[in-house]
Amino acid sequence: MVQKETADMLVKKALEARENAYAPYSRFRVGAALLTESGSVYTGCNIENAAYGPSNCAERTAFFKAVSEGERSFLAIAVVGAGETDSGQYAAPCGVCRQVMAEFCRPEEFDVIMANMAGEYCVKTLSELLPDSFGAANLPL
Ligand code: THU
Repeated sequence: MVQKETADMLVKKALEARENAYAPYSRFRVGAALLTESGSVYTGCNIENAAYGPSNCAERTAFFKAVSEGERSFLAIAVVGAGETDSGQYAAPCGVCRQVMAEFCRPEEFDVIMANMAGEYCVKTLSELLPDSFGAANLPL
């Protein structure tokens, strides 16, 4: 499990990244901060599109930024999301983002820090959020 100072730092960066969210259609703004095994942090925000389908979640933006820079090993991600009226809820990653996370981590060890706008959060492993996931081991290569 990530240490409290690390989780707090990632939540702060996710809140900052949320400022860049491009969400004119849902008005639900999301930020994420992804920690690599070597200690780097990649941030992301949701990026919507008038055609809806091409929209990208904050978590995947962070992952794709990192992977495109050569990163392959990750320890934790913090996510924060809220609409114009803040419900106070913790931000739960969508199923597609959980699947992308599973591609690049050990699900029993990867921490998903789900935060609200007040900086409060709960932490679950990816294996708790995506049990029995489909991955490379299921493909007969
Ligand atoms: N969204 C994220 O960025 N991450 C999630 O895990 C859930 C949903 C975005 C997608 C869309 O831009 C908006 O939130 C409303 O679904």
